[in-house]
Amino acid sequence: MTALIIDGKQIAQKLRAEWKLRADRLNAAGIAPGLAVVMVGDNAASKIYVRNKIRACREVGIRSEEHLLGGDSSQETVLGLIDRLNADAGIHGILVQLPLPAQLAPPIVIERISPDKDVDGLHSRNLGSLVSGHPRLLPCTPAGIMKMLKSTGLDLHGKEAVVVGRSNIVGKPVALLLLQAGATVTMCHSHTRDLAHHTRRADVLVCAIGKPHAIGGEMIKPGAAVIDVGINRLSDGKLVGDVDFGAARERAGWITPVPGGVGPMTIAMLLGNAILSAERYAAELGIKLDA
Ligand code: GUN
Repeated sequence: MTALIIDGKQIAQKLRAEWKLRADRLNAAGIAPGLAVVMVGDNAASKIYVRNKIRACREVGIRSEEHLLGGDSSQETVLGLIDRLNADAGIHGILVQLPLPAQLAPPIVIERISPDKDVDGLHSRNLGSLVSGHPRLLPCTPAGIMKMLKSTGLDLHGKEAVVVGRSNIVGKPVALLLLQAGATVTMCHSHTRDLAHHTRRADVLVCAIGKPHAIGGEMIKPGAAVIDVGINRLSDGKLVGDVDFGAARERAGWITPVPGGVGPMTIAMLLGNAILSAERYAAELGIKLDA
């Protein structure tokens, strides 16, 4: 079997066309959706991600601000900036690019963002509402993964879903979304004994560990939907995922490529959250948006 490719770039493009219409409506009503991106230090990968996010904002009609702070910035400096952005009526979404330098505590920084402007969906209030089954702003990568799975037409009810990686940003929230969609979910991580035993049972396999080619073809159930979240740069400069794409493609039913899979979807969902946030702000002001 040769897997069908889940083309994240194409799905993201469609979503972005939809977001553009909604951003146009907001702009016409006098609410320019605004996203602030905060980056501390000059992590090379983060710089590329942030540049892509800013460019994507421009394309759909979201006003973006980039706040670059020195790598030695204190927690007070970062929290002070977040306080100002929380109070800024022209900013509807705030994203603090991760990872942060060692002197900063990510949970404290993230908790300082107003939950209404938390377009990464990582504030405990937003994660809590996801646990309770009534999410407000969803974490971007997990939300993008669910859109990609939807595009396959697979009914997730009763399916075995295996998530490899237990991060707050991908593994844990995507497990909750899969659970909410009716799948039987298993979470695997660095202490899991016999990873292949679990992955081979997976109708849906989500890999988010950041290790090139950690999942070989023989670890995949024939016909499975394989979502590869890893973006790993090899010494020759090539970008690869956590899954051995060539081998997996011969067994899976569907598979996401790297690049061009999960990455573009994460950005699309970020833009969607920024627009949703701006729409909620407009609603609070009693501003009606044209249909
Ligand atoms: N670093 C890598 N991915 C992400 C993301 O989705 N959001 C943030 N804030 N930082 C990241």
